[in-house]
Amino acid sequence: MPQKIPSRIKGIRKKTEKMEQETDVLIDTAKTQEELDKIRTEYLGRNGLLTRLLKSVPQLPLKYRPEAGGLVNTFKRKLEQNLRNKRDVLRKEKEQKELKIDITMPGISPELGSIHPVNQIMRRISQIFMNLGFKTVEGPEIETDYYNFTALNIPEGHPSRETFHTFYLDSGELLRSQTSPVQVRVMEKEKPPLRIIAPGRVFRPDATDASHSFMFHQVEGLVVDKNITFADLKGTLSVFVREMFGEKTRMRFRPHFFPFTEPSAEVDISCIICGGNGCRVCSFKGWLEILGAGLVDPNVFGTVKYDPEIWRGFAFGMGVERIAMLKYSITDIRLFFENDVRFLRQF
Ligand code: PHE
Repeated sequence: MPQKIPSRIKGIRKKTEKMEQETDVLIDTAKTQEELDKIRTEYLGRNGLLTRLLKSVPQLPLKYRPEAGGLVNTFKRKLEQNLRNKRDVLRKEKEQKELKIDITMPGISPELGSIHPVNQIMRRISQIFMNLGFKTVEGPEIETDYYNFTALNIPEGHPSRETFHTFYLDSGELLRSQTSPVQVRVMEKEKPPLRIIAPGRVFRPDATDASHSFMFHQVEGLVVDKNITFADLKGTLSVFVREMFGEKTRMRFRPHFFPFTEPSAEVDISCIICGGNGCRVCSFKGWLEILGAGLVDPNVFGTVKYDPEIWRGFAFGMGVERIAMLKYSITDIRLFFENDVRFLRQF
């Protein structure tokens, strides 16, 4: 037979259960520390509901007191714990509000940039020549007259200086108008054989328009070895043209003059837009000029103390923006330098 629960105990249990339900709701809906304090006083204060219930325990007959006291005290500890928990929650919320951090706000995803189209093409050019065994070297943008001209077989007063319009600095130095001076710097320091490319910025005081900029990029190439012939130049450039512009692109050499190469040529490719039929991009010629090249003039070898009887070489130089414009069908060089992300994002 189950032990009969005395009604006195039943009454206490009922009261604590009721209080528990009430306080659960109150604590749950409390929004401030003040509201929590009120609940505490109401139940646990000197004259609080729970305090009074606890005080009534000693009035019970002795044998009921331990159980009744246990019930009330268990609830009391629970209530205190609930109040503490809620206080911590409110405190955290308040801190976050003060920090103005909304942890539910979607994060700021960092905008990923992309490599500038000019740099992409420059890397591609370097990659192609790297695969052919070329080493990439760099030289200064502020140059001396000697490296930009004299050592390249363009003496003072030589009319071809005019074709390399140049920015001069007060110091007497200049902003290099071509990457060719890097050839000379490397040859001065290193013994042949050599296979290098020199990418970098060059400067010319041209009036800015759709196809001219006072600053642009070139890649210069130089090979020095024994028994180098024009066929090596042609072979190397034909690999480059195929890799850069595709199998179908043809290449032709037109005689030209550069002071530092002899013979010299300008190299055209069949128009990559119309395939050579003639269109606006190639001015209806079917060909696009992409670079200058030639066999290194023996005078340049003399200047850097390479014996021209033993060593021969070829060199070439190309404008990176021009190649990027052709590859991406860009019609205005200024777009590269305006830093408009709407343009840059497309590459
Ligand atoms: N430096 C020449 C230019 O800027 C290009 C070139 C480089 C030509 C090397 C021949 C050999 O026009």
